[in-house]
Amino acid sequence: MSILKIAKLGHPILNAKAKKIENIIDPSVKLLINDMSQTMIEAKGIGLAAPQVHISKQIIIFRVPETEDLESNEKEIKITALINPSIIKLTDEVEDQWEGCLSIPGMLGLVRRCSKIRYKGYDINGNIIDQEAEGIHARVVQHEYDHLLGIMYTERLSHKKAFGFSEEIEDYWKNRNE
Ligand code: NI
Repeated sequence: MSILKIAKLGHPILNAKAKKIENIIDPSVKLLINDMSQTMIEAKGIGLAAPQVHISKQIIIFRVPETEDLESNEKEIKITALINPSIIKLTDEVEDQWEGCLSIPGMLGLVRRCSKIRYKGYDINGNIIDQEAEGIHARVVQHEYDHLLGIMYTERLSHKKAFGFSEEIEDYWKNRNE
């Protein structure tokens, strides 16, 4: 496995629409997902899309804490890979929450997302995934899915000025009542 270079905001691949994977069970797909996983963990991210590692294909990965395991008292974190994903919004309700992106390091933006979604796609073994999600789970899937459409979170800010360096945001935005 290898750690891949992450494209930063301004690189045109981040604005392009990613192509569908034709052969989901091709070994090169598995290899790419493994490299993306290692890259995401090393960068301390919770999600990553293939265009962010300069590959304009429809693959996203993400990790969400599982429900707490009372015996070990540790939250198990599992990485999910989703190939050729699609999303359906299950509600008109939206939530505003701070997001970061490995392609925009050191910065945060307040982003408006649908609060409940259903997503479909294929996992690393070619099995169908069909899952409902809300909260942080729904948010990360929508963020990564946007990367496949060439959309950055900076295009979805809840208001124009709700974007900046994380240390300033922590000091001046997060603790105030909005
Ligand atoms: Ni991102």
